[in-house]
Amino acid sequence: MRVPAKINLHLSVGPLMESGYHEIVTVFQAISLFDEITIRYWEENISLLNKTVIDISARGTFANGVPLDDTNLAVKAARFFFERCKIETPTKLSIDIKKEIPIAGGLAGGSADAAGVLLGLDNLFSTGLNKAELEELAAELGSDVPFSLSGGVAIGRSRGEELTPVLVRGNYHWVLAIAHQGLSTPVVYSECDRLRSGLVISPPTLNQNLISALASGDLYNLGNALSNDLQAAAFSLKPALKLILEVGKDNGALGGLVSGSGPTVAFLVLDEESAIDLAVALTASGVVAGVTRATGPVHGAQVISSF
Ligand code: C5P
Repeated sequence: MRVPAKINLHLSVGPLMESGYHEIVTVFQAISLFDEITIRYWEENISLLNKTVIDISARGTFANGVPLDDTNLAVKAARFFFERCKIETPTKLSIDIKKEIPIAGGLAGGSADAAGVLLGLDNLFSTGLNKAELEELAAELGSDVPFSLSGGVAIGRSRGEELTPVLVRGNYHWVLAIAHQGLSTPVVYSECDRLRSGLVISPPTLNQNLISALASGDLYNLGNALSNDLQAAAFSLKPALKLILEVGKDNGALGGLVSGSGPTVAFLVLDEESAIDLAVALTASGVVAGVTRATGPVHGAQVISSF
């Protein structure tokens, strides 16, 4: 399975709900930065075990730091799938992740892997779940997992899991500034609450200018309309992010923002040439750990081969 990263072009954060989540309105775009998930399973005579043994391995650029145990969302997704689909489970399952999406980067890397596992197991076990059923399972695993399945561009409401596709014209070029160390999503949301304590928080809203810019393919308006309510919290936790944004804007970006809970900063640029120029400038500035270029929108999770 090949599953894309996402960026949030817009993230409006409303009040904290009783569930512990914040009501949000976000606009996701899937971009051409992919994890690859390979799943194998087999039966072994180890019937004393009452639970499927799941081996998880990771390779690729961001393999370091991938949890190789049951805390990995990909492993949770596999157990959850077997439990919910009530299918006879194999004795052994292996999940290999080629990790090209940074971890804890605000790019839904963990969600991508979970989405890949759901799609892969549905395919391997011919469960034949339809899109809505898969998305329902996905939503229980995490707020961003349904979008990792669907891809494209979509508005996410509620926790982010209720999706509405968005009409988009054109193909967008992005430059991503990758940080040395990730940020934890719950920590960033808590910091957002702390910064807003004492204020009356309005329900989240959608920026219609952004939707119009996407519909017409107007890059300049899109660049101006990018916004993220979690950005101040990400800046508070990682002040260097402000400098990264400045470097981007001084070097040709049409707009830039922290993606989701960060710390990855996504810059919209005019075309491939501008993307290369900005990538070079960011690298030379020494303020980023790494730079990647990507385009979007792309498809969500896809089976790329099965045996
Ligand atoms: O859904 P997911 O497990 O990815 O969310 C991780 C954490 O991020 C939640 O436990 C919550 O603290 C925070 N979150 C939130 N509001 C959202 C989405 C996530 O507060 N809409």
